[in-house]
Amino acid sequence: MAAPIILDHPLIQHNISLLRDKNTGSKDFRELVSEIAMLMCYEATRDLPLKEVEIETPVAVARTNVISGLKLAFVPILRAGLGMVEGMLALVPAAKVGHIGMYRDPETFEPHEYYCKLPADIAKREVIVLDPMLATGGSAIDAITQLKKRGVTQIKFLCIIAAPEGLDALTAAHPDVQIYAAAKDECLNDHKYIVPGLGDAGDRIFGTK
Ligand code: PRP
Ligand code: URA
Repeated sequence: MAAPIILDHPLIQHNISLLRDKNTGSKDFRELVSEIAMLMCYEATRDLPLKEVEIETPVAVARTNVISGLKLAFVPILRAGLGMVEGMLALVPAAKVGHIGMYRDPETFEPHEYYCKLPADIAKREVIVLDPMLATGGSAIDAITQLKKRGVTQIKFLCIIAAPEGLDALTAAHPDVQIYAAAKDECLNDHKYIVPGLGDAGDRIFGTK
């Protein structure tokens, strides 16, 4: 079981401060989520396997590395995960993208799946699941369970803000999944919102409130 990795690079921390500000509007919020995802992607792909190849330069033959191993797929959890896709694809444009739709019941806080469309070869890919918010962990746990049912064996989970409760729950449910977060916040409130958090990520990205 690997401990969650907190990606607290200064550029990421600065952008998260702007993201948390209740006065940041949807346009800026979307751009910040995308930029943070791109910075996180750089770190989350640090362990991609390499293989040595020979390349002829104009001067000599170089022994040099290229990426090997499984190809990547990104799977955003709808809706808010959609905001992270563009930033991820900026670094890995050849990745395929699947979608899992989840909403959290406002009364019970239980996640409900309403959509799932994945690349046909998903089981042969390393999958990075995307959601800006890890609160109770229910949505992430169910999305990852769906991926495992379809044969996926290598999974990472990338979120921007995580509650300690969500980190514990996701680690317990899927100890093989490496979690990357950009900030570990204090706790959840009575409505299971992350404190201090940034509010409802989906509403802020899409301007629905
Ligand atoms: C939010 C968020 C996560 C989930 C986190 O989605 O984007 O998917 O809540 O909460 P959890 O860890 O307690 O499951 P929401 O259900 O609000 O749907 P939306 O993205 O469509 O707004
Ligand atoms: N979903 C959000 O968008 N924000 C939270 O704080 C918790 C769940």
